[in-house]
Amino acid sequence: MIVVSAPGKVTLFGEHAVVYGEPAIAAAIDKRVRVKAIKRADEAVRIEARDLMLAGFKALLSSNGSVTLEGESKKVLAALSYVKRAIEIVREKYGVKVGAHITITSEMPVGAGLGTSAAVAVSVIKAYSLLAGLEFSKEECADLGYQVELSVQGKASRMDSTTTAIGGILYIDPRGERVYENIKCTSDLRGFIVGYVSREASTGEMVEKVKKLREKSPEIIDLVIKAMGELTRKARGLIERGELYEVGMLMNINHGLLEAIGVSTSRLSQMVYAARSAGALGSKITGAGGGGCIIALAPEREEEVIAALKAIGVSAFKVAFSSEGVRVEEG
Ligand code: PMV
Repeated sequence: MIVVSAPGKVTLFGEHAVVYGEPAIAAAIDKRVRVKAIKRADEAVRIEARDLMLAGFKALLSSNGSVTLEGESKKVLAALSYVKRAIEIVREKYGVKVGAHITITSEMPVGAGLGTSAAVAVSVIKAYSLLAGLEFSKEECADLGYQVELSVQGKASRMDSTTTAIGGILYIDPRGERVYENIKCTSDLRGFIVGYVSREASTGEMVEKVKKLREKSPEIIDLVIKAMGELTRKARGLIERGELYEVGMLMNINHGLLEAIGVSTSRLSQMVYAARSAGALGSKITGAGGGGCIIALAPEREEEVIAALKAIGVSAFKVAFSSEGVRVEEG
């Protein structure tokens, strides 16, 4: 038996803009997705997601590629497509045929904007490849995870797959010499709260929405995307130096720009403003939007922000950043 886990992530700056080549800053968090893989006698793959907080399913991926699914819903199908593609990519690229029983669990809400799709894809790739006797490095897992996201979503950046595979706080620069650089902070970055509501649209749908808006008015949307890139470049130094007031201010500007490209909802904006009223230095959507999560920076005011979010019916929890990416826990 092999057990692999990988962290969720929050995007501090630059979601959506990163799809168009601008930099983003993302951090792995202390909540993980866990994948257990056991060899089967035949070549089929049985996938079971028992207690994924928003999407539980059971599926059988037979050796000819067909899928039998129990409990069909949009969310289930979305979650399954990442698992299915992750296994297919390892099978196709490396000629692997081994059958497996795969069980997935998550410590955080799935499909809410915390990068769980990538965490699932990367941990399935790592666990399934180990079962087949292949040793992929973290970078290889990140790359294969990216290919899974790309083929499921149509358009994706390397942000989620890199952050979950590598861990830490990363500066993702699609146009840079290196895909990512580690951001080294002089002081502990603390005081982050995540609030979440269920998602109305998938990451793929939100990426598509921005793409359409950009096609209609490239002269406007490209400026907004460029502005997101600029503030992300500026935020990097502020994070490194621990200048939290300025980081918060840039988070607020970033949220305004995300509103401008149409990825907020009235509920997300309500959450963002509730957090600020309760003392957050900054708050914004984190992830693709269309429902899902917000992140607030509220050092010394964590409890107040959590209470304010709960008062408007939103689930909220503290997050700490984690330097650990994908890791083998057993096997
Ligand atoms: O909602 P999430 O965690 O899947 O984040 C999506 C981030 C986007 O920038 C919108 C898409 C991407 O692939 O980078």
